[in-house]
Amino acid sequence: MRASLLLALTFLLSHVTGADPGPGCQTKRDKDYRPSMNCTAGGFSSIPLEIEPTIQVLLFRDNRFSSLSWSSFQVFAQLHEVDLTGNQILEVPLSPGALLPTLSVLRLGWNRLTGLPNGSFSACPALTELHLPHNTISALSDGSFSGLSRLETLDLTSNRITVLPPLMLHPLVAIENLFLGNNQIRVMPDDWFSKKEDIPYIILSANPWECSCSLRILHRYLQDNGLNVYVLDGGLISSDPESVVCQSPLTLKGLSVVNLEESELCGPRPRSLSRF
Ligand SMILES: *[C@@H]1O[C@H](CO)[C@@H](O)[C@H](O)[C@H]1NC(C)=O
Ligand SMILES: *[C@@H]1O[C@H](CO)[C@@H](O)[C@H](O)[C@H]1NC(C)=O
Repeated sequence: MRASLLLALTFLLSHVTGADPGPGCQTKRDKDYRPSMNCTAGGFSSIPLEIEPTIQVLLFRDNRFSSLSWSSFQVFAQLHEVDLTGNQILEVPLSPGALLPTLSVLRLGWNRLTGLPNGSFSACPALTELHLPHNTISALSDGSFSGLSRLETLDLTSNRITVLPPLMLHPLVAIENLFLGNNQIRVMPDDWFSKKEDIPYIILSANPWECSCSLRILHRYLQDNGLNVYVLDGGLISSDPESVVCQSPLTLKGLSVVNLEESELCGPRPRSLSRF
């Protein structure tokens, strides 16, 4: 009874809120009842002017944006989520300040980003979720995520990250989900987790880990916090401390870091093959 009432109300509201921004868009409420505009695959390359300023969720998946303009979202004073997944955005522009102070969720996966300079997200300091998978991001810096003290989810899956900047995690004091799978990371800087040891969900799999003494700290981390290390498999997330696997040297290739002895990581080279 109540459900059908809610459904009727949702239907009604979705038909009375706002002007029609043109073909390809639908006004709706999101799961938390926020006014939402869904312009998925609508052929847009910028935000259409007709959208009501009261809209809180803007979905522009699979459109034709080639750039991101923070100021084009400023008219939406209660903006909660922007989804620009599957566009052709090349860079995150620097912002003169916190232009979008209410933005909580930003989705920029499947674009063409190659780097994230210092302060990339200073336009939106209240972000709690930042989704950046399937770009070609290789250049990160210590300040890439500076100011994001409320960020809980950072998804950098399937990029081209080779080096983790030593202080990159330090601003992310609220981080809970950190996804770094399928990149080109070989080494974990010492003290990388020093500001926040207990990140509940972390994915480090499918990286070419270089198993030398420089992974000693990661090795200890995996032994102490291994249950926080997950893999993503067909949309399902499951705990797998053994998912951090050596790519080199040859003698350790394919072995899980957590199962090694510290002496194997730090032992004299070349190792003998007696282990096998
Ligand atoms: C947005 O619209 C697309 C296509 O019309 C649909 O597939 C998708 O589920 C919608 N998203 C939401 C969150 O309603
Ligand atoms: C980026 O910020 C860090 C500190 O957060 C600073 O040490 C570094 O010099 C900055 N790099 C650039 C290119 O501005």
